[in-house]
Amino acid sequence: MIHAGFVQYHVHFGDWDANARAAEAGIRACEGADLLVLPELAFSGYDFLDRDEVRSLAEDPASGPTATMLRELAAALNVTLVAGYAEAAAGGCCNSAMLVTPQGAVHNYRKLHLFNREKELFLPGDGVPPVFETPAGRIGVMICFDWFFPETARCLALKGAQIVAHPSNLVLPWCQQAMFARSVENHVFSITANRIGTEDRAGRSLTFTGGSQLLDCSGQCLARAALDAPAQAIVALDPAEADNKVIAGTNHLFEERRPAMYDAL
Ligand code: ACM
Repeated sequence: MIHAGFVQYHVHFGDWDANARAAEAGIRACEGADLLVLPELAFSGYDFLDRDEVRSLAEDPASGPTATMLRELAAALNVTLVAGYAEAAAGGCCNSAMLVTPQGAVHNYRKLHLFNREKELFLPGDGVPPVFETPAGRIGVMICFDWFFPETARCLALKGAQIVAHPSNLVLPWCQQAMFARSVENHVFSITANRIGTEDRAGRSLTFTGGSQLLDCSGQCLARAALDAPAQAIVALDPAEADNKVIAGTNHLFEERRPAMYDAL
């Protein structure tokens, strides 16, 4: 068994110190956790004015302040952490997530499916959805709007993910229900870590919808946060449950796929 969960908080645009304090407080409140997922862009805020502003708040995945802080916390608390951040990359910035292990490994994933204005601000991801072997199990990482493309979670599951870590900044109302399907159809745990708060920038107002959740392999909700308040939760789960892909006694979720018939894909 491991203890896994999420940390949901109000991300303040452009205020790394305040965001880091909120993240650390939430992480420390989850004493005994083996795996914690934080929101997308959890240290910068979301609604950038332009690419220059993204660049001004973007970080190096190995040596930036977020990586440094998360590495220290992961080691001190013996927890694997997954968090979204703005990544300074060659030729632009990416909407990325880092997975940091207690042993000090830092892995990176760049969001594949950019939502709305993100397409003007970020480079799209250039790597396949990754699965990382960690002390908390095999963790697949995808970011927010990746949920809208079921291929993302399917690829993670086919590559052996037991838990899908899903940092998010949700503004559409359907994700939590859709993640029910992602968990059921792939027989995996999923942890969607959302943020709360409103960003008013350049005449635009975006409200993030909270409701972070942890679902088991049958889509059952083991923990859900309020829609508009900071929250954290951890639950005990056995990642190995996700390895059994037999449904209803006789059907194998992966072996009975008919990829040759999926010609439109
Ligand atoms: C989103 O992908 N942040 C909606």
